[in-house]
Amino acid sequence: MKTLLVTGGAGFIGANFVHYWLAQYPHDKVVVIDALTYAGNMANLAAVNNNPNFTFVQGDICNTVLVEQLLREHGVDTLVHFAAESHVDRSITGPDAFIETNILGTYSLLKAAKVVWLDGDTVVDHRFHHVSTDEVYGTLSATDPAFTEETAYAPNSPYSASKAASDHLVRAYHHTYGLNVTTSNCSNNYGPYHFPEKLIPLVITHILHNEALPIYGDGQQIRDWLYVTDHAYGIDLVLNKGRVGENYNIGGNNEWANIDIVQTICTLMDKQFANNSALAAQFPKAAAAQKGASASLITYVKDRPGHDRRYAIDATKTNNELGYQPKESFETGIAKTVAWYLNNEAWWRAVMDGSYKDWLQKQYD
Ligand code: NAD
Ligand code: DAU
Repeated sequence: MKTLLVTGGAGFIGANFVHYWLAQYPHDKVVVIDALTYAGNMANLAAVNNNPNFTFVQGDICNTVLVEQLLREHGVDTLVHFAAESHVDRSITGPDAFIETNILGTYSLLKAAKVVWLDGDTVVDHRFHHVSTDEVYGTLSATDPAFTEETAYAPNSPYSASKAASDHLVRAYHHTYGLNVTTSNCSNNYGPYHFPEKLIPLVITHILHNEALPIYGDGQQIRDWLYVTDHAYGIDLVLNKGRVGENYNIGGNNEWANIDIVQTICTLMDKQFANNSALAAQFPKAAAAQKGASASLITYVKDRPGHDRRYAIDATKTNNELGYQPKESFETGIAKTVAWYLNNEAWWRAVMDGSYKDWLQKQYD
C-alpha cells in the first residue's frame, strides 16, 4: 500500500490521475496539494471528495515548509508531481509564473523530499516522480526521427524551458543526493476536464458557441495525441516497474496536423447534431444546430511566436521495459471526449467565465 502526495491534482491530468489511481488501488491513500490557480478546479475532484482515502489541501508547492509537513503528517512515500503552469501561449505573454512554479516550485518539492526522506530518519522506499513533457526536446522536421530519451534537450518556449530546468533539477537530486526519482516525458493529452484554452476543448466549446476556430499559422504543425487515462496508466507502470534515475517517454503513436484534428472534431460535432435534435435546442447558436457545417468557423490567425513544428515520441523503451501500450484508440478517445463536453456543459461554462474569457479575448485584440 502506498501513500501518494499528488501535486496539481485539481488540474486536468492530475485530477484524471487521482481518479485512475483510487479506482485502480482503492486501499492507497492520496493527498492532493493544489494552489487552485485559474487551471485548478475542485469540480474536477468532486467524484473522489468523499472518499475516506482522499485528502485535499489548498497550498502552493513553493511553500517548502507546508510540503515537508504534508510528507511527514501523512507518511507519504510517493510524490507524483503534476503542478505546473502548462499553457505555452501564457508562457509567451507572461513567463514569470512559469519560472516560479515550474522551476522554483519543483526545487521546493525536491528540498522537502530530501529533508523528509533522506536527512534524519530515512524513508528507504520512497519515490519522487516528475511529470514532464515532450516539448523539452524541441522541434522536429517532417522527416526527423521521433524523440527518444537520448534526444538532447532543446526547449523553445518559456514553458518548455521551465520544464527542462525542472527536469534537470530532478536528475541532479538523484545523482547528487540519491533521491529516488523517475521522470516521464509525455506528448499532448486530451480527454475530460481539459481546460478550454487548449486546442481540443477550445474547438469543441467554440463550435457550441458558434465562435471562430483559430488555427495558428498554416495549421500544419504536428502533435502526438494521447488519451489522458493512458498517461495515468503510463505513470502507474513507471512507478511500479520503472528504474530509479531513469526517464521514460510516453506517447500515443498518433501524430496529427492541427488542421486535421480540427476538421475531425468539426465532422464529429456535425454528426452529433444531425442525430440528436435535443442538442440543437441546448446549443441553438451552433452552426450545426442550423444545419450548417462547424468547419465554416475555421479561421487562420497569426502564428504562435516560436511555434514548434512537430513533436513525435519514440516510446520503445517504455513499451519494451514496462510493457506499455495505450489502451484507447484515437477514434474512441476523441468520441468519448466530445461526448464528455456535450454532457458537461455546466463544467466548461463555469471555467470559461471570468478571467479565462478576459485572457482569451486579449489574445485576439
Ligand atoms: P493544468 O494547467 O491543467 O493543471 C495544473 C495544476 O497545477 C492546476 O490544478 C493548478 O492549480 C496547479 N498549480 C499551478 N501552480 C501551482 C502551485 N504553485 N502550487 C500548487 N499547485 C499549482 O496542467 P495539466 O495539463 O494537467 O498538466 C499537468 C502536468 O503535466 C504539467 O506538469 C505539464 O507540464 C505536464 N504535461 C502536460 C501535458 C498536456 O498535454 N497537458 C503533456 C505532457 C506533460
Ligand atoms: O506536447 C505536450 C504539451 O502539449 C504539454 O506539455 C503542454 O502543457 C500542453 O499545453 C500541450 O502544448 P501545445 O502547445 O502542443 O498544446 P495546445 O493545445 O496549446 O496547442 C496544440 C497545437 O494547436 C499547437 O500546435 C498550437 C495549436 N493551436 C492551439 C490553440 C490553443 C492553434 O492552432 N489554435 C489554438 O487556438
